Amino acid sequence: MTQNLNKSNPEVWDNHYQREKSRLIFPDENLVRILSRIPQGEFALDHGAGSGRHSVLLKSCGFQVTACDYSAKSIESIQRMIPGVETDIIRSSNLPYENEKFDLVVSWGVLHYNTIDDAHCIVREIKRILKAGGYFAGTIRSSSDSHLQTKDGLIGLTDLSGGSVRLYTLEELKELLKDFTNVEFGYMERCPIGKLEERICHWIFQAKN
Ligand SMILES: C[S@@+](CC[C@H](N)C(=O)[O-])C[C@H]1O[C@@H](n2cnc3c(N)ncnc32)[C@H](O)[C@@H]1O
Repeated sequence: MTQNLNKSNPEVWDNHYQREKSRLIFPDENLVRILSRIPQGEFALDHGAGSGRHSVLLKSCGFQVTACDYSAKSIESIQRMIPGVETDIIRSSNLPYENEKFDLVVSWGVLHYNTIDDAHCIVREIKRILKAGGYFAGTIRSSSDSHLQTKDGLIGLTDLSGGSVRLYTLEELKELLKDFTNVEFGYMERCPIGKLEERICHWIFQAKN
């Protein structure tokens, strides 16, 4: 069944990526650590690739990389800045890839910008497009986060205002990943510089198909 994604969030991310300062260059070291623990494969998907910092990392690890995002601005920027990466703009929670195509899917800081029903649908799709024994790695915002200033499911932070977000307890994340094996969790929390009262909180996960 095709399920269309929330219309406003891609626009919110398009606005975000209009600003040069939104372009992240360096990979998250938590992903670097995960990549050092899992076997090298051939094909990787950077799901919700943003400015493509993890597409660059995956390429440097020897993967043939596909980057997808529901923000057209994100994909335009990847096409402009990162040669040798296949790209797709995603319009629905159904992913346009064949069964068992990828050895690794990375979805870093993405799933919570979707309804919980869409997130479940996307994770089922990720399972479908992963090879047997392939890996799924990602992060998802934790319910302890205060930085996004979430109220009634809407983001209060000026940069992403108008967007919606669904924060996750660890139990909810376990439910999302229940069809995978070897599921392992981590957690990261930081205060933005100058805002000691705020918390940016993510669950980290690694799972095997
Ligand atoms: C916080 S950014 C993370 C970008 C990148 N993964 C990184 O770590 O730098 C979230 C990204 O997820 C994208 N996104 C959220 N939900 C998506 C979905 N259902 N399909 C495709 N992209 C999605 C947004 O457009 C945005 O680029």
